[in-house]
Amino acid sequence: MTYVPNHARYEHMSYRRCGKSGLKLPAISLGLWHNFGGVDVFENYRAILRTAFDAGITHFDLANNYGPPPGSAEENFGVLLKKDFAAHRDELIISSKAGHLMWPGPYGEWGSRKYLIASCDQSLKRMGLDYVDIFYSHRFDPNTPLEETMGALDSIVRQGKALYVGISSYTAENSAKAIQILKDLGTPCLIHQPKYSMFERWVEGGLMDVLEESGVGCIPFSPLAQGLLTDKYLKGIPSDSRAAKEHGFLKTSQITPETLQKIEKLNALALERGQTLAQMALAWLLKDPRITSVLIGASRVSQLKDSLKCLENQHFSAEELSKIEGILS
Ligand SMILES: NC(=O)c1ccc[n+]([C@@H]2O[C@H](COP(=O)([O-])OP(=O)(O)OC[C@H]3O[C@@H](n4cnc5c(N)ncnc54)[C@H](OP(=O)(O)O)[C@@H]3O)[C@@H](O)[C@H]2O)c1
Repeated sequence: MTYVPNHARYEHMSYRRCGKSGLKLPAISLGLWHNFGGVDVFENYRAILRTAFDAGITHFDLANNYGPPPGSAEENFGVLLKKDFAAHRDELIISSKAGHLMWPGPYGEWGSRKYLIASCDQSLKRMGLDYVDIFYSHRFDPNTPLEETMGALDSIVRQGKALYVGISSYTAENSAKAIQILKDLGTPCLIHQPKYSMFERWVEGGLMDVLEESGVGCIPFSPLAQGLLTDKYLKGIPSDSRAAKEHGFLKTSQITPETLQKIEKLNALALERGQTLAQMALAWLLKDPRITSVLIGASRVSQLKDSLKCLENQHFSAEELSKIEGILS
């Protein structure tokens, strides 16, 4: 059936400025790392994408290697862009990345100019796009001059293949260097994509300050710690969960009794606030104005709907914040 997007889609989402740029991103963005690959069910991920767009989610995040198999999430997304979103390209912010292993040989990963430019071309082909809105260096390459990696990002923009560029998982120190190089090249760094959640707080040790000082946005990935920051693992490991899937990146070894104890306490606090744990975990990130957007995943429509409700309460009292610190410490 032809998809007709919700006419009221922009009424309930908030849009936050990305650093000091002219671009706004939805408070919640959707990532296609899991659940959109060749192993997944078309009608399910189609429904997730439609639900997202209907709720005002304008930003979809991909990478060359998302699947499995690698490349299939971009291919599947390309099919849906054509089928459902062709008339809405200018309402969308689509990102892709290169950095992790994508093809064999010395030019299929890391940060060389050779790899980044070839990979961007491949991503555009898979998605059937002329350009992506944001192209990222997916990880810092210790063996390639940073000038070369950032120079490749600058070239990609000048070639019209991306509108903005970003970096992902760079340390505070390497981020500062990359941001300066990009500034000198005349292609400012738009955004940094780090892993950040209640369970993963490395960005608080310097990166957030670097981003704030340089006017670069921040979009935390895995804000639910891949599903740990929900109530789903409290009664065992559901057979359809990421931890149970062979290709899932969440490993059962990460679900320790100590972690479960923390989840249990956080879950009780969330319920006291009238939220699910997923909603509280997302709101906890969004309370910081330096966070542009939280980049969530979802394996079904109901999860996306649950997570979206975090927008209804992003306020934390000092007492709640200190309780959370107590639980996490
Ligand atoms: N730059 C990088 O290096 C990098 C790395 C990783 C991810 N990312 C990006 O970040 C995006 C999000 O990462 P992520 O998928 O790990 O994010 P996440 O939001 O932390 O985890 C998403 C998973 O949690 C479960 N879930 C989500 N909402 C739920 C809810 N309301 N209730 C119960 N369970 C829920 C689902 O897993 P189940 O399958 O168990 O249902 C879902 O697939 C990726 O798609 C990708 O775009 C980037």
